[in-house]
Amino acid sequence: MASSHLLLLTLLCGLFVYRCHGACAEVDSDTEAVAGKGFKLGCISCKRRSEVDGAATVEWYFRPKGEADFMRIYTYNEDGPTIEHDHFMDRVDWNGSKRSNDIQDASIYLLNVTFNDSGTYSCFFNRILFYENYEYNTVVSKVVRLTVVAKASRGTASIVSEVMMYVSIIGLQVWLLIEMIYCYRKIAAAGEEALREAAKNQNQNQNLPPKC
Ligand SMILES: *[C@@H]1O[C@H](CO)[C@@H](O)[C@H](O)[C@H]1NC(C)=O
Ligand SMILES: *[C@@H]1O[C@H](CO)[C@@H](O)[C@H](O)[C@H]1NC(C)=O
Ligand SMILES: *[C@@H]1O[C@H](CO)[C@@H](O)[C@H](O)[C@H]1NC(C)=O
Repeated sequence: MASSHLLLLTLLCGLFVYRCHGACAEVDSDTEAVAGKGFKLGCISCKRRSEVDGAATVEWYFRPKGEADFMRIYTYNEDGPTIEHDHFMDRVDWNGSKRSNDIQDASIYLLNVTFNDSGTYSCFFNRILFYENYEYNTVVSKVVRLTVVAKASRGTASIVSEVMMYVSIIGLQVWLLIEMIYCYRKIAAAGEEALREAAKNQNQNQNLPPKC
């Protein structure tokens, strides 16, 4: 019984360490670019076993909005980066892992985004993992659907929450004002009452015969 608990604990710990090992985290790319500005197309694929050596080459494909076919636009391999398509000539920079063949971040940076850059991007990792006695090939791909807008649009949620903030601030102040007026009147009324009471008491006292 105790030993099975211990086993479970060890397994859980193992799992936890396994998941948290290394600094790699697969963050999704942004999907909204602003025309005329730069944009980072994110693509991260973490190795399942960070302790195993690996090497990867990367290919990016692009399918313009409304078209049927993907075209290869960029590769990154032992020879370094290559822009493969005229549409992106001199407009793509590597934003991924640096000084390493063991690429886990294959993000690229688009300079001077145009509306024609809208569409679907796909990055492919061709990865080799070097185990002691064999090599293991994997292909991982990710997709980024990019829309290009004229100006950065704010999320509806943030607009709604800002409006709600103003409404609640104004609401609270109005409530505070009403409460103040109400209290002031009440205090004033109570004060008058007390004065009248005091005056009455004084009169009564005067009517009483002196004590001694
Ligand atoms: C990506 O590359 C662009 C252009 O070279 C650079 O301005 C930007 O700072 C880079 N971003 C990151 C996160 O490396
Ligand atoms: C960006 O593109 C516009 C037209 O598409 C061009 O006029 C401008 O010079 C470009 N800017 C850079 C930094 O390449
Ligand atoms: C966008 O594509 C259209 C049609 O393919 C072309 O006429 C136009 O010049 C392109 N614009 C830019 C900024 O590349």
